[in-house]
Amino acid sequence: MVSIIGHHLINKEEGYQILLYLDPQLIEVADEFDESFQNKEDLRQVVNSYVKNRLPDLKVTVIRVVLGSLVIASIPLLPGTEIKDLDSSQELNLKTEVKEVFENTPQEIEKDLLLVNKNNSLADNYTPLNLIVPEVPFIFKGFHEKKLMAAKAATALEELFAAAKANNIELYAVSGYRSYQRQEVIFKSQVEKHGLLQANQISARPGESEHQTGLAMDVTSPQVKFKLVQEFGVTKEGQWLKEHAAGFGFIIRYPEGKDAVTGYQYEPWHIRYVGQEIAQKIASQDLTLEEYLA
Ligand code: DAL
Ligand code: ZN
Repeated sequence: MVSIIGHHLINKEEGYQILLYLDPQLIEVADEFDESFQNKEDLRQVVNSYVKNRLPDLKVTVIRVVLGSLVIASIPLLPGTEIKDLDSSQELNLKTEVKEVFENTPQEIEKDLLLVNKNNSLADNYTPLNLIVPEVPFIFKGFHEKKLMAAKAATALEELFAAAKANNIELYAVSGYRSYQRQEVIFKSQVEKHGLLQANQISARPGESEHQTGLAMDVTSPQVKFKLVQEFGVTKEGQWLKEHAAGFGFIIRYPEGKDAVTGYQYEPWHIRYVGQEIAQKIASQDLTLEEYLA
C-alpha cells in the first residue's frame, strides 16, 4: 500500500511540478518499485487521485515521487503515460532539487504559529508544504496560485465557510497563498499607486507577507461588491467572521487600532490560521499574534 504524507509545489514556466512525499517507512520496500510493474501502476493511480482531488485545475507537468530524499519515480502528466525510470543524470538533478526544497523548509517553520511580519521574514524560495485548493466559493473562476492554502488551513476554511453558509452569511475567498515573487510584483505596484509610505501600511514587502505561509486568506462578500475594503468590518458578514473565525482556528490578523503593533492598517478581511485553541485565546483577549507571542 502506498501512503502519501505530503507534497510541495514547484512553479515552473510551463506548469507546476509536484514533489510527492511517500511515507519514509516504505524505504524498506523501495526496491520493489524498480521490479514490479504492478506496484508502479498502483503508485500511479494513488498519485493521480491524490493530485486530482486536492489540486483540481492545476496545470501539472510532472509528479516526482520522493521517498526519503530520493526521487523514486517521475510521472509525466500526460494521459496514458507510464512511470518513467530516470537515467542517472536526471536522478542527480532531481536529488539536488529535492535537497534544496528540504533545506529551505525547516520543520519549525511549518508550525501554525509561524510569525511573519516586518521583523520576521521568509526566504525567497520558501514554499509551504501541502498547498491545496480549498473547496469554497472564490470571486473568480479557474485555477490561480492564490487559490492555494496549506492543507490544514484549507480544511478549516472549508468548515468556516460551511458554517457561514448555514447561517445565511455569504462569504467569498479572494486571495490565499502568494509566492515571494508575486508579492514582489504586488508591493511594487502598490508603491507606484500610493507611494512608499502608504504602501508600507497596506502591503507587505516580499518575504514579509503572511500570504507566503499559505495560512492566510482574504475574504469578502457581495455587500461590499467583492472588494477588500474596511467597510467589510461593519457588514453582517464582516461581523459574523470576526465573531466566529476563532471557532475554526482563524484570527483577524490586522485588527482595528493595532497598526502600531502589527505594522499594518485595519484589515477586517485578512484571516490567518493559528489553530482553534490559540485563535480563541487571541480573540477573547483582543490580542494580535505579535502580542500573544511576546
Ligand atoms: N496586506 C497584507 C499586510 C499583506 O500584504 O500581506
Ligand atoms: Zn491578506
